[in-house]
Amino acid sequence: MKMPGSYYDDLTDSELAGEIDALETQVDQIKARGLSLNMARGKPCPEQLELSTPMLDVLGSGSSLFASDGTDCRNYGCLMGIPEARELFGQIMGVPADRVFVGGESSLTLMHDVISHGMVHGIAGCEPWLLQAQRAPLKWICLVPGYDRHFAITEYFGFELVSVALRDDGPDMDEVERLVADPTVKGMWCVPMYSNPSGIVYSDEAVARIAALRPAAPDFRVMWDNAYCEHHLYDDHPTLANVFDACEAAGNPDLVYEFCSTSKITLPGAGVSAMAASPANLADLKAQLTVQMIGHDKLNQLRHVRFLRDVDGVHEHMRRQAQVLRPRFELVDRRLTQGLADLRVATWSRPRGGYFVMFNGPEGSAKAIVSLAGECGVKLTGAGATWPHHDDPRDSDIRIAPSFPSLEELDEALDVFVTCVKLVCARLAAASRGTGADER
Ligand SMILES: Cc1ncc(COP(=O)(O)O)c(C=O)c1O
Repeated sequence: MKMPGSYYDDLTDSELAGEIDALETQVDQIKARGLSLNMARGKPCPEQLELSTPMLDVLGSGSSLFASDGTDCRNYGCLMGIPEARELFGQIMGVPADRVFVGGESSLTLMHDVISHGMVHGIAGCEPWLLQAQRAPLKWICLVPGYDRHFAITEYFGFELVSVALRDDGPDMDEVERLVADPTVKGMWCVPMYSNPSGIVYSDEAVARIAALRPAAPDFRVMWDNAYCEHHLYDDHPTLANVFDACEAAGNPDLVYEFCSTSKITLPGAGVSAMAASPANLADLKAQLTVQMIGHDKLNQLRHVRFLRDVDGVHEHMRRQAQVLRPRFELVDRRLTQGLADLRVATWSRPRGGYFVMFNGPEGSAKAIVSLAGECGVKLTGAGATWPHHDDPRDSDIRIAPSFPSLEELDEALDVFVTCVKLVCARLAAASRGTGADER
């Protein structure tokens, strides 16, 4: 977003100075209130957690604690997950149950472990990435804006992070296709539905082009993190093409690992994660899983299936979640529109699902806005967090996470945010005029 053409650019120097004075007074008054509000991380609010708390009552000492195949869920065993949990996640991800591994409470851990497997043992019989990296640095495609914890995993394992634009309908596929011709490019992070943070959904064409990639590296993999596949805010919601069907059709069955979890369906502190993969990829990973554990928490798997029942039960439950979340997202849009639309200084997303709103201010504004909001008692996700190495080249992206605060707190936090945006934009306009001569 360019500053020229903003409301502040149209003011005379003295009008602009007056505006800055007034905004600085407002900011001082806000600081004096000693607020402590948080729009930083995408955590469910207590009201959402309440929706899933009855799940804790579905298993008791008097319940049957046996899975459908007779497995005693109190005991060791069932490495890949109990059959009904594999079935449920298979329905959620649109794959047969035998393509599913059910993990512990965190899908991020599964993603970390897949990359770790590639590093130490190699993907499906290929040379371990650690050894390959001794000859030439390995690279990973990071779609921007994206999820900081994804970037952190591949950074932790020493990959060079290559930024590629995520557009309104998916990745810049011309650029992805160009990059995968390089055999040192080993993978790509994707959040295909309600992407964190921009909220976009990949078009069918984007999914088809990803599935049809012909990477030079035989161990190139797409990490398809479908964390928000069930997180629609409206009944009338977009749909996502089935990536495994697209991969089959493109003759590329082993290209993708898909991940999801119930972190934001039930309880992030005690959910269940899952991964879907081709038979070859699952067999490859199973070699590691077998050594790593005897089996994850089957009582939690059973508890989840008895509570959610099937994919229709998940949809029903998520409609209740949406009733809690929708007013928060609508409040964000309303407050930003009321406060900023006429000033022509920023744009923001209006997602149909997921957990975030993406805010784009003028170039050079994000760090200043986040810092000023912090001084005013409103914590936001760190500026730059949606870029590899926290380095947003335009310093303009801010991720807003509206789920956790109450509506009243969110309202107050947005008021503060809008005031901070205005002051930073007004100061930028003044700075861009140099000596401040009145040009009008
Ligand atoms: C895209 C994405 N993937 C994964 C996670 C975390 O998933 P889990 O709780 O299953 O580790 C989040 C949490 O914000 C997320 O936004």
